[in-house]
Amino acid sequence: MWIKDILDNKEHILALSPMADMTDSAFCQIVRGIGGADIVFREMVSSEAIIRNSEKTLGMTDFVESERPIVQQIFGADAKNMAKAAEIVMKHANPEGIDINMGCPVYKLTSNFNGAALMKEPTRAANIVKEMKQAIGDTPLSVKIRLGWNDEDTFKTFIPIIEEAGADLITIHGRTKKQGYSGKSDWERIREAKEIAEGPLLANGDIHDPTQVQEALEQTGADGVLIARGALGNPWFFKQALDPSFDVSMKERVTVVLDHARHHIAQYGDRGIVTFRKHLSWYFKTNKMKREIPGIKAWRGKLVRVSSYEELEEILKEIENI
Ligand SMILES: Cc1cc2nc3c(=O)[nH]c(=O)nc-3n(C[C@H](O)[C@H](O)[C@H](O)COP(=O)(O)O)c2cc1C
Repeated sequence: MWIKDILDNKEHILALSPMADMTDSAFCQIVRGIGGADIVFREMVSSEAIIRNSEKTLGMTDFVESERPIVQQIFGADAKNMAKAAEIVMKHANPEGIDINMGCPVYKLTSNFNGAALMKEPTRAANIVKEMKQAIGDTPLSVKIRLGWNDEDTFKTFIPIIEEAGADLITIHGRTKKQGYSGKSDWERIREAKEIAEGPLLANGDIHDPTQVQEALEQTGADGVLIARGALGNPWFFKQALDPSFDVSMKERVTVVLDHARHHIAQYGDRGIVTFRKHLSWYFKTNKMKREIPGIKAWRGKLVRVSSYEELEEILKEIENI
């Protein structure tokens, strides 16, 4: 299995965590272009939409070769439909792996037994894993979980069940569904999860700075880390995790942001500049730039209203020259 091959060649896996509306093709291309990430997880897609032949949803699984190895996340609650959706995605895009979302706390998903709600239903969850594994054969199947729904020890019984059903890789966010994003990701419990898991396990949650990667790996004993918010506005995260002395100059930031904007517009069309604003606000957060820029508040005000690529280019050239 290619995941094991990565682990044989290097000690730990650095992976980009799936984020809806964020880890699309454009962003994954940027992360890959900079380097350092071993795997990128693409944003979740609905199994029900895939099997309904939604062109838009299937289009979300399109990717370019430079993004490989890539794992496509799918959510759903019906084992047969999840398996069918995985088959369709494999045929359409042939990703290196498929991931099941069993961690999302959002009501839209959990009210339909999707996402983290599956942690309350281990039999249903195991059936989904079994059917999907059968459908995709040798392609690795990973499952992204939380500690539990409201019980922070559910993972202890849940992990053996889904591994037995065929999960090849577990990724675990050290919070319960009930916690949402409050409190702290419990790295100690992730360590327990690693001890329980027979296969590889990636730790997730609150690794916001590249300097924390080593600490997270040591504390959890995990086979790697999965980075979400830390990579927003900082696609250099993985490179910095490997080389802490790597500094991102403002010139480099501007070049990458413009490159990202062009990829984003190529993916979504001209109105893509509007949806790109969410990335701009991450790129120009003070803690992401690691420096105080005089008057940055006013610049940010302009960036959240930017309405064309040319306007963005002009603003960024000015910021670069401050
Ligand atoms: C904007 C956003 C979108 C997310 N979308 C997904 C998703 O599609 N699938 C998923 O499993 N988790 C999703 N997550 C959760 C993250 O993958 C990750 O588990 C969580 O943010 C904790 O990691 P972090 O502390 O590194 O951000 C999302 C998180 C954010 C902030």
